[in-house]
Amino acid sequence: MSSDFLSWLEAQQGRQYELHSEHINPVFVKMLRTIGFDKQYVRGEGCYLYDRHGERYLDMLTGWGVFALGRNHPRVREILEHVLSREMPNLVRMDCSLLSGLVAEKLTRHTELDGANGLSRVFFCNSGTETIETAIKFARCHTGKSRILYCDHAFHGLTTGSLSLNGAEFFRERFGELMPGTSAVRFNDLVSLEQALHRKDVAAFVIEPVQGKSCEVVKEGYLAEAQRLCRRAGALLVADEVQCGLGRTGKWFAYQHWPEVEPDIVCTAKALSGGYVPVGAVITNPKIMDSVFNSMERCVVHSNTFGQNDLAMAAALGTLHVMEQERIVERAACMGRYVMERLTALGESCPFVSEVRGRGLMFGIDFKRPENSLRLKAAWDTLHTLNFGVFSQMLVMPLLHRHRILTQVAGYHTEVIKFLPPLIIGKEDLDWFLSAMEQVLADVQRIPGNVWSTFTGLAKGALRA
Ligand SMILES: Cc1ncc(COP(=O)(O)O)c(C=O)c1O
Repeated sequence: MSSDFLSWLEAQQGRQYELHSEHINPVFVKMLRTIGFDKQYVRGEGCYLYDRHGERYLDMLTGWGVFALGRNHPRVREILEHVLSREMPNLVRMDCSLLSGLVAEKLTRHTELDGANGLSRVFFCNSGTETIETAIKFARCHTGKSRILYCDHAFHGLTTGSLSLNGAEFFRERFGELMPGTSAVRFNDLVSLEQALHRKDVAAFVIEPVQGKSCEVVKEGYLAEAQRLCRRAGALLVADEVQCGLGRTGKWFAYQHWPEVEPDIVCTAKALSGGYVPVGAVITNPKIMDSVFNSMERCVVHSNTFGQNDLAMAAALGTLHVMEQERIVERAACMGRYVMERLTALGESCPFVSEVRGRGLMFGIDFKRPENSLRLKAAWDTLHTLNFGVFSQMLVMPLLHRHRILTQVAGYHTEVIKFLPPLIIGKEDLDWFLSAMEQVLADVQRIPGNVWSTFTGLAKGALRA
């Protein structure tokens, strides 16, 4: 690349917020500025981000789960560089690429399901939401039915099909009529599911084994029974593992925590990218795949232009290779147990904490109105007359400003903070996080105190905005 271009690019540093205000999303910029999150990160490495002053931050957000291997993993980069330097043919279309075949082979091995329901086929796409759109189409085509069931609080993406399976009104409202034939069931409620399946007109039940927005985990035995109910009603079970898959919960796929569960379709994306190139994969069985692609004429009846592109496949292959070599899944299970145990203990001593929940390295804290202290109750009520969701913000902000830990409130109109650390995180960084949590949980109990006065002001400001 010409050095002119590189020096021009270097000279643009610092313009990002101005450019975003002008051309991308000014309200987002305003929000970042309001909560003081308008840092200028200039580098990412492993578990850390660095701002322009060289300050180091612990990344507990990982780009919403993308950087499972940390940022800029050198071995994934190596394979990308190798592919770039080889002048590969790429996206020939009337050809089969080696790289996508290898990714499919690796992915299907890790589903650990063979036999009649074996998950041995993969469809590649470019994002999480596209995996859900694919699952909807595959299920409808295979079963010849059209209703799709989803859970309350579910999040499956924001394109029109996946948005029709969103369990929060906040995301659905204002976008007109969504896809017909979808119905919500209560999460973890088998009676609700059985009733919804009663008419045997359901193509699929789509569920996140660990919900991304609430960190709620399916109850023991729930998924196996849900699968039995689905099979009885001729509906497919779709596991949305876009966020909770690929080692995040301490298993390759979260459904594997319950050995009797054999989903018909598994959706995955995010971490598969290695944090480098967007990619999504839908893993399913030959019967389903063969009913969609049922003749030579229809051999690409569901497809996309960029799926299976060499860079995405190289990133996925590198990611799976590193996960295998570095035993990332076992590590996530072990570190998950370590941090959850300690965070649960911290939560027990804070009257605002309703529950610490999750699995592996996907965990969160749900906050509630305290039960005993009148003073704490009154403070909670005052804050919530102004704006719901600000309490969680009260922890997220000092986590960044005082402790240099990046997190985010998990959902809209909820009081849940979710943590998605890199799966390569070690005890030392988890202790950094735990000691920060101990302090912020103590600070919110000090009333009156700085934290409360700052946030009452913030909530009032948000109301005016
Ligand atoms: C469980 C789940 N499904 C689907 C999606 C949509 O993925 P994407 O944002 O890549 O479209 C997400 C995104 O956060 C998710 O968490």
